[in-house]
Amino acid sequence: MTPPERHLFLIGFRGCGKSTVARLLAERTGVRAIDTDRRIVENAGMSIREIFERQGESSFRDLETAAIAELTDELPAIVALGGGAILREENREMLRRLGIVVRLVASPETLAERIARDAASTSDRPPLTSLPPVEEVRRLVAEREPLYRESADVTIDAEAGTPERIVATILAEPLVRRLFGHRP
Ligand code: S3P
Repeated sequence: MTPPERHLFLIGFRGCGKSTVARLLAERTGVRAIDTDRRIVENAGMSIREIFERQGESSFRDLETAAIAELTDELPAIVALGGGAILREENREMLRRLGIVVRLVASPETLAERIARDAASTSDRPPLTSLPPVEEVRRLVAEREPLYRESADVTIDAEAGTPERIVATILAEPLVRRLFGHRP
């Protein structure tokens, strides 16, 4: 595969599989994977939950915007973004400019179930509302839907199937094939 000149961004709500899919896509394409949440945590020396608790959500969002801006100098990569990365117009504009955006979609019930199963990451992630978990997912997915939709160049059903299957579906998308230098 020809190394692309733009990033491939993965967006979607928590639990949709962005990090796993990014890792597998990197293995399949030879393009490195970057996880913006992981970078923010490494740079800050604390978990996202601690950043929210000590500095507030807007500080975290500033770090997230800075992490996306840094990607300008790191083309090409497969980038797993945090679930709220599409909230700021500034971020959405950078995604449009720097690459193609693949959105992974699953139902709120499936997302909530996966989040509940991922106990380690749950302890490192802040609650985003005071609602019970499934309600929180339902509410935020509904609120963010227009922004996810506006941002996505390609939307992939990640409700069922193995991560390998989802990766194969992404790589078969014409826009993604073109990114890696294949004729559509
Ligand atoms: C957030 C999602 C998290 C992380 C932060 C905020 C959100 O990323 O960036 O806790 O607002 O949806 P993941 O989607 O990787 O869990």
